[in-house]
Amino acid sequence: MPEKTQQRIVPLIDQRGKPHTIPVPKVIDDGQLQANGLLSDARGRPLRDLRISVTDRCNFRCSYCMPKDVFTNDYPYLPHASLLTFEEITRIARQFVAHGVQKIRLTGGEPLLRKNIELLIQQLSSLRTTDGAALDLTLTTNGSLLTRKAAALKAAGLQRITVSLDGLDDSVFRAMNDVDFPVQEVLDGIEAARAVGLGPIKVNMVVKRGTNDNQILPMARHFKGSGVVLRFIEYMDVGATNGWRMNDVVPSAEVVKRLQQELTLIPLEATQPGETAQRWGYADASGQHDKEAGEIGVISSVTQAFCSDCNRARLSTEGQIYLCLFASQGHNLRDLVRGDCTDAQLSAAISHIWTGRSDRYSELRGSEGSAPPGDGQRRVEMSYIGG
Ligand code: GTP
Ligand code: 5AD
Ligand code: SF4
Ligand code: SF4
Repeated sequence: MPEKTQQRIVPLIDQRGKPHTIPVPKVIDDGQLQANGLLSDARGRPLRDLRISVTDRCNFRCSYCMPKDVFTNDYPYLPHASLLTFEEITRIARQFVAHGVQKIRLTGGEPLLRKNIELLIQQLSSLRTTDGAALDLTLTTNGSLLTRKAAALKAAGLQRITVSLDGLDDSVFRAMNDVDFPVQEVLDGIEAARAVGLGPIKVNMVVKRGTNDNQILPMARHFKGSGVVLRFIEYMDVGATNGWRMNDVVPSAEVVKRLQQELTLIPLEATQPGETAQRWGYADASGQHDKEAGEIGVISSVTQAFCSDCNRARLSTEGQIYLCLFASQGHNLRDLVRGDCTDAQLSAAISHIWTGRSDRYSELRGSEGSAPPGDGQRRVEMSYIGG
């Protein structure tokens, strides 16, 4: 079903380049702050998850993320020199891991568009957590290049993968990605990822009322019993260009209700603190979780915010740390790593940034969608800091 055209005003000035970054400590005594994996922010939240955006480009134009009328052919994407190099990313990531990060997710834009991404994966896969364990190293992709790249990603040390897929019906999917990309190629990509052992595979579906909510049940039927964990995501008001309205959101409670009309689902326990998704398992005839049939998840960032244990930091393509998906300002680490700072200084800067963090945008937004009082600044786009 085509979306209604909306009247909206999109500021033409791109604010990413503006020097509005928050200063980080310049000179720090090496012994002052030793990373011990126990950092805690102003609300007592640990640092566990680092999401690294490796490109602000994407070959899709999903209307909720990179609408075509804004992300045109002459959109000012970041110049190559602005991008962190793989060595710079790994150096920063190493300090984050020393501060307690256990999971690293590569995102974009579309991360598989970044040239030689396998080399970055190789470097990151050698990092060890403070307990000496391997990182949970994963990547979010639209799946368009997965058939070609799955084997190389696995060989480089990627453990698992998450594929964004907003519908099974070819015409709905082509309309969602807005570049007429066929759904079968993404399904083939998921198969290729499974064949090389990039699991457990997750599939993320952003649900937009009137656009792809008729795909909720077909998607669940398709992935039930496949080993793939399907997650339904509430459409969020992230960024400043997608023309978000509360009416477009299908609350997770409604998603579960619709699924339960045909499928028997029982709530499952969270597997770890700070998890985004609430898990639901398919039940067998005796009402127990049928592990063969698997599970689904719902991510309710609008109707049930999960800020209270948000342990995620985001590193933008050009090296700014964002402490919230809805932030308008980052902390400029690129200038630090391109300056003459030592690793100890970088570590102390990260510590300073995280301990000062108090962000909780989704909690303040309210479940009715009313925006919290902002600082009047434009929020960054999801394609810039990653989902
Ligand atoms: P797993 O470890 O595989 O469970 O990943 P995850 O759920 O932590 O990350 P993923 O990138 O798969 O997140 C799925 C979706 O949840 C994103 O695309 C966002 O829509 C939403 N999301 C993830 N992190 C946050 C967050 O910190 N805040 C909000 N508001 N939404 C988030
Ligand atoms: N709301 C919710 N999720 C979004 N994503 C991008 N934009 C939005 C939005 N407005 C997420 C989707 C997509 C990933 C790349 O980012 O999960 O799969
Ligand atoms: Fe690209 Fe993912 Fe954004 Fe769609 S949601 S435009 S696939 S980055
Ligand atoms: Fe974390 Fe911000 Fe998302 Fe809340 S809105 S869960 S603080 S990223």
